[in-house]
Amino acid sequence: MLDQIEPLKQAALSDLQQATDLTMLDRAKSAHLGANGRFTGLLKQLGQLPREERPAAGKAINLAKVELETALASRRAELETLAAMPKEATDFTLPGRRRPLGRLHPLTRTTEDIVRSFRKLGFVVADGPEIEDDYHCFDTLNTPADHPARDSQDTFYVPTDPRLLLRTHTSSVQIRVMEKQQPPVRIIVPGRVYRRDTADATHNPTFHQVEGLYVDRGVTVGDLKGTVEFVFRELMGPETKIRFRPHYFSYTEPSFEIDFSSSLTRKMGKEWLEIAGCGMVHPQVFENVGYDPEVWTGWAFGFGIERIAMIRYGINDIRLFYQNDVRFLHQF
Ligand code: DAH
Repeated sequence: MLDQIEPLKQAALSDLQQATDLTMLDRAKSAHLGANGRFTGLLKQLGQLPREERPAAGKAINLAKVELETALASRRAELETLAAMPKEATDFTLPGRRRPLGRLHPLTRTTEDIVRSFRKLGFVVADGPEIEDDYHCFDTLNTPADHPARDSQDTFYVPTDPRLLLRTHTSSVQIRVMEKQQPPVRIIVPGRVYRRDTADATHNPTFHQVEGLYVDRGVTVGDLKGTVEFVFRELMGPETKIRFRPHYFSYTEPSFEIDFSSSLTRKMGKEWLEIAGCGMVHPQVFENVGYDPEVWTGWAFGFGIERIAMIRYGINDIRLFYQNDVRFLHQF
């Protein structure tokens, strides 16, 4: 009987291995290990052996049984994995799935172009908070609480702190930078601003500006004009002309509005289009940040990025920038 164990075990192992699906495996299992299986038959014969041979034979049979059960379990796992795989073979000649490439938003592109031009002239980008206090947004810019200029820049206030508001212009960053840094200063500040405006084709409660500030000894309006002209020619084409009109801002003296003229403005049916505010930094602003106005001179400007992007790309409704309609965004 002992010499039957090994051949029966080998036969069972080979049937288990040859099963190519789970049905075949179950059939092999009951043929060898089931109640009437060939291997199970060995156990039944055990009782007929002489008493002294039984322990050795029982031990050998059990060892072989454990081996068979292990083989059964591992073949079952293999076949289950196979069964879970797709029936069709993989076709490696199929083209891959292309991920569509995204692109920059027209406002981002315009901002980057503006920044690139100013960098050529040695300006660096500065940054400031969008939740501002009225001190930086208005007071230090010579616009006290009772100043009429505040009316045109009504904004959103933070209910928990009456001093906090969403900045109405990037001019607040002029103050933040000058408080921290001694002259010379040569910065531009692209950023988001907020106003209590209702949305229409040319207004939105949030939009973007670029602020510029240049402080050094002996700075003139000529430097301002030359700088603005250089940048606008880069942005709008080499035949672009600019002109300054007298205006009022509380933080500059004298103050101007800047108009420009190019093939783009003529396409829109206008010779001149207003594009920015600017001027020579008011001596009181220098006093407010601790700069000596007898030593330092400077200019500042601010303009809207949407305005420039609309003119460059011929966009007639500002709201298109914020709706994220891919049919619009896809065109840039
Ligand atoms: N802050 C002004 C606005 O939002 C724009 C502006 C005008 C900025 C004159 C300046 C400036 O720096 O000097 O309308």
